[in-house]
Amino acid sequence: MTEYRAAVIGCGRMARGHMRAYKELGIPIVAGADISEEALQAFAEETGAEGLFTDHRKMLAEVKPELVSVVTHDALHCEMVVAAAQAGTKGIVCEKPMALNLTEADEMLAACQASGSRLTVSHQRYYMPQYTRARSLIADGAIGQVISAEASLKAGCLMTDGTHTIHMLLALLGEPEVEHLLGQVDGHEGYEYYGHRCENAGIAFLAFTNGLRASMVWGWMARSAASEGRMRRQHSLDPSWNDEVHRYHNFVIHGDAGRLELYGDIFSGADLDAKPVLRIIRGGEIEEVAFEWPGEVSAIGLEVKDLIETIESGAPHPLDGANGRKVTEVMIGIYESARRRSVIRFPVEARDNPFLSMCETGDFPPQGDETGSHVSPNERERWRVRSGTEKGKGAS
Ligand SMILES: NC(=O)c1ccc[n+]([C@@H]2O[C@H](COP(=O)([O-])OP(=O)(O)OC[C@H]3O[C@@H](n4cnc5c(N)ncnc54)[C@H](O)[C@@H]3O)[C@@H](O)[C@H]2O)c1
Repeated sequence: MTEYRAAVIGCGRMARGHMRAYKELGIPIVAGADISEEALQAFAEETGAEGLFTDHRKMLAEVKPELVSVVTHDALHCEMVVAAAQAGTKGIVCEKPMALNLTEADEMLAACQASGSRLTVSHQRYYMPQYTRARSLIADGAIGQVISAEASLKAGCLMTDGTHTIHMLLALLGEPEVEHLLGQVDGHEGYEYYGHRCENAGIAFLAFTNGLRASMVWGWMARSAASEGRMRRQHSLDPSWNDEVHRYHNFVIHGDAGRLELYGDIFSGADLDAKPVLRIIRGGEIEEVAFEWPGEVSAIGLEVKDLIETIESGAPHPLDGANGRKVTEVMIGIYESARRRSVIRFPVEARDNPFLSMCETGDFPPQGDETGSHVSPNERERWRVRSGTEKGKGAS
């Protein structure tokens, strides 16, 4: 049996989740690459890894790790995954978003295909127990025949956070194929995170080839009148959002025998006790659904465990590169719809990132607070801190 050694490219905040995953599985972390000496030092202290590199290509050539996590900012994922594949890495765990456009996603898939490397994209919520339970309830017919779905995302933009929401929406619905969609985004804030401009709100309506329909709303304006704060009340898009109850992203799946409500992420047992997370409503009856939380192994640990299974037996991985590309295509399709102001039929032809292209061509000139901004001064300051060197409670 292969002995697995892991390496991490990009040893910042999210790398901690990958380090924990390898530790949980008893896989030694032998090397790290980061352009920051400080990040490398902290990484060495936490993992005991001796291979410390400021150049990931040198690390790949000298150490030749069997497993590599790519945990750098979004625009670097493509080049680093391709480099890891070309170095013969057996399993690559790439952080979301897989890529910023479909050209990059296809390059990554082609490089992995050529080298026989297995790629996963870290939409790790797939493995969290509330989402696993929701998927099996829907698949087992708990709400009858599924008809439509609604998704709301509290934070960020499609590239930083919405990639998780698109992924989960597709997973809950059993991976349907998009036939066409219509989307719009507001990108005027000038907010930058993970190295690129971000939109601050959006809506989309998706029609699937199997007849299902879904709608999405995102950005902090998804918050409602029930949430704290004057600005949020003024600009809420989704009247159902309540910060007291809703977390990160939420889903309502409608079936012909009832609906399933899933109120997103949980951070502590107290959270689970205080608020409903997963429930099924049939007529006037509300059934709160229990599930095991937290799981014994972290979500990224389960992702890596399945990756090893995929390497060894060829079993399909639920978060493989093709799945990551599918999520990327929906994201790009929504941006393309906003650019063209029209319905987009799949497959999506745009090879660039229409939102980032629109930022470059000046379609979204950044506005300040005085010129109609939706963002309060406090919120703006929080964003400034998050996108700078200080690592606060970031997007994910
Ligand atoms: N799956 C999730 O839930 C989740 C959560 C948070 C972040 N993320 C993703 O993880 C990625 C990293 O986010 P983060 O919060 O850890 O960012 P971060 O800024 O904390 O860490 C990024 C690290 O990459 C390093 N880096 C920059 N250029 C490099 C290069 N050329 N070679 C090697 N290292 C380089 C930086 O020095 C930094 O240490 C992002 O793509 C983000 O979208 C995913």
